Amino acid sequence: MKILMVCLGNICRSPLAEGIMKTMLPGNFFVDSAGTISMHEGEHPDKRAIKTAANHHIDISNQKSRPITKADFDTFDKIYCMDIEVYEDVISKAQNEEQHQKVSLFLSASGNYKNAEVPDPYWGDMKDFEDVFQLLNRGCEEIKNQILSANTF
Ligand code: 4NP
Repeated sequence: MKILMVCLGNICRSPLAEGIMKTMLPGNFFVDSAGTISMHEGEHPDKRAIKTAANHHIDISNQKSRPITKADFDTFDKIYCMDIEVYEDVISKAQNEEQHQKVSLFLSASGNYKNAEVPDPYWGDMKDFEDVFQLLNRGCEEIKNQILSANTF
């Protein structure tokens, strides 16, 4: 099973989500991340995201930003979007119903209906990055439980 985490720049939220999810799922799962813009293509995650992950013993420093591609809709089984703008952008790139079905809002998929969006910490400070980490950690735990209990992979 292959899981793709998507945010805007692929340097803050989705790299954290990728790093967290990789620590939770067994090795036969493939987890990657991408952005909807290519502005930061080839860059490593934001230093504050790297530091926040490192504070939780997760190394995301080797990741590199890349934009989502058409091929991702075939490659991945599930595509989780960090906010509504990202979700709408990703949905607009889906080419058929099967691809459309793979896409969901990360927090709604994890059962957190109170918050629809993982807030963008890019313009914030380290506290914002830590809050995002906690939100992602809880969401990943829920999604991991769903995936493993579905027991179809
Ligand atoms: P991300 O955060 O989508 O969580 O990676 C952002 C990164 C860069 C920009 C915006 C959000 N930017 O405008 O460059």
